[in-house]
Amino acid sequence: MSNPLLTISGLRAGYGAAPVLFGLDLKINEGEIVALVGSNGAGKTTLLRAISRMIAAEGSINFAGKELMPLTPEQVFATGLVQVPEGRQLFARMTVEENLRMGALLRRDPEGVVRSFARMYELFPILAERRRQMAGSLSGGEQQMCALARGLMAEPKLLMVDEMSLGLAPVVVDQLLVVLSDIRKAGVTILLVEQDVFAAFSVADRGYVIETGHIVREGTVAELERDSDLRKAYLGVA
Ligand SMILES: Nc1ncnc2c1ncn2[C@@H]1O[C@H](COP(=O)(O)OP(=O)(O)O)[C@@H](O)[C@H]1O
Ligand SMILES: [Mg+2]
Repeated sequence: MSNPLLTISGLRAGYGAAPVLFGLDLKINEGEIVALVGSNGAGKTTLLRAISRMIAAEGSINFAGKELMPLTPEQVFATGLVQVPEGRQLFARMTVEENLRMGALLRRDPEGVVRSFARMYELFPILAERRRQMAGSLSGGEQQMCALARGLMAEPKLLMVDEMSLGLAPVVVDQLLVVLSDIRKAGVTILLVEQDVFAAFSVADRGYVIETGHIVREGTVAELERDSDLRKAYLGVA
């Protein structure tokens, strides 16, 4: 359980001359759900973009024994590191099924892809019902399911999910969290990036707290929930 899958050291990144991340260290072990929490603008999405190699960065990002820094986003994706982006970013004028197929674009195992479709429709029965519908016509919760399923169609080793809960009703968020737990049991490691600390901590093993581009706390969820500063700042309890 404590085999490191992702090890980030001294990660710096930003946009042009404006630094956003100031030398972050972060580790994710195989089979874990790790929560990355922090306020709006703290640098969470920037961290995911840096890991996926979509923006310039310095430092080291080791994933499954491979250094990601010199890779392109396509090459990172091919290593099994898949991002479910903030705002879902579906192909709105494509059907649910076509969106899922996009996630499997690099796969060369057609039978496996068929099995993955079946698995996704089992995890998200509503997507099976809506598979011929345009993704843009789905509800927010269904769009998030479609985005998760599209990511999973790539058979990732690590799934990084950015602000899954944003704009969704609590009951829908709870459904999605159950699915994430199932996915983890099936062997997918998960980095859950959330402003909703309650939601993230309800399924995570460990967490990191990011503030203005610095990791300010890390620990097991139990440890973080006991931290009185964090309780006041993020959980709204004394
Ligand atoms: N494309 C961009 N160009 C310039 N600055 C950006 C861009 N995206 C984000 N930022 C800035 O980077 C900081 C971190 O943003 P972001 O990583 O999106 O935070 P979070 O995901 O935690 O809400 C913010 O100050 C934001 O204004
Ligand atoms: Mg963000």
